[in-house]
Amino acid sequence: MYNIRKTKLMKRDFPSIQSLSNKELESLLTLTKTLKTNRKKYGQDLKGKTIGLVFQKPSNRTRVSFEVAIWQLGGNCIYLGPDEINLGKRETTHDVAKTLSRYLDAIVARTFTHGDIVELGKHASVPVINGLSDLAHPCQALADVFSIREKFGKQKNITVAYVGDGNNVCHSLMLACVKLGYNIHIASPKGFEPKDSVVQLTQKSAHATGAKILITNSPQEAVQGAQVIYSDVFISMGEETQGAAKANQFTGFQVNSGLAKLADKNYIYMHCLPAHRGEEVTADIIDGPHSIVFDQAENRLHVQKAVLLFLLNKK
Ligand code: CP
Ligand code: NVA
Repeated sequence: MYNIRKTKLMKRDFPSIQSLSNKELESLLTLTKTLKTNRKKYGQDLKGKTIGLVFQKPSNRTRVSFEVAIWQLGGNCIYLGPDEINLGKRETTHDVAKTLSRYLDAIVARTFTHGDIVELGKHASVPVINGLSDLAHPCQALADVFSIREKFGKQKNITVAYVGDGNNVCHSLMLACVKLGYNIHIASPKGFEPKDSVVQLTQKSAHATGAKILITNSPQEAVQGAQVIYSDVFISMGEETQGAAKANQFTGFQVNSGLAKLADKNYIYMHCLPAHRGEEVTADIIDGPHSIVFDQAENRLHVQKAVLLFLLNKK
């Protein structure tokens, strides 16, 4: 029999946007708004809790916004970089998950392979939050859709055009968008399209909300009439050795004034950051009047507070 109390006590992980129901996504966005509007609210809700940040790759936004979110909610955090925890090399991911569960109340993990996030979640008795893997960046996507809603309100007829590599940020963005009923257009070079498995999940969610999906190799087709243009770096962390060879395949996928001209005249420009001006986006666009990239970065803080309160059964 379904036991609500047991369910409430069962730990929840946050590996991907797909792990949230549409209703939970809505509740998280509502809670985020409350937290952003009233920064003192829930200021002691993580009192006595310690959260570990297991990061295998560098980070500015994810690390700092999580640390500040935890402090502002009254908790403590410990940053564990690759020198302390080298997943699968110094010790197994299994042993790391079991050990850290004896000390911590939650783990935020940034890993190379998504399998490590899943493995941590499987063996940890505390919630595991994905702070970026090769497959997904769900905390980023929550901040992204919160930022879109902040600009456009609850308006449904929004088309988000992502131009670039169909990997982690793109995957989470497409899932989050269709769950809220936003149309999603993805333009990637051949061979860099989003993974079929993620496209299928996105189609399933879109079916329920009526959102439309376009996957194309043409940035112009994707951006035409869009309310949002989104880009990410061409070379992700861990791909540095592919360098110029990979970047060359993204010729024509730069967001510049010529491309942006095709969008809705009130479009917003978004980027998860870090950005490389002159590569995936020109300076006039990212530093121009349509850009909301620093609102997006700020919203990581508010949205991650909501995630922590939700997973630690405080909300
Ligand atoms: N957008 C994002 O996750 O930034 P960091 O890599 O700096 O954390
Ligand atoms: N796609 C980028 C996102 C960084 C936030 C990367 O994986 O490096």
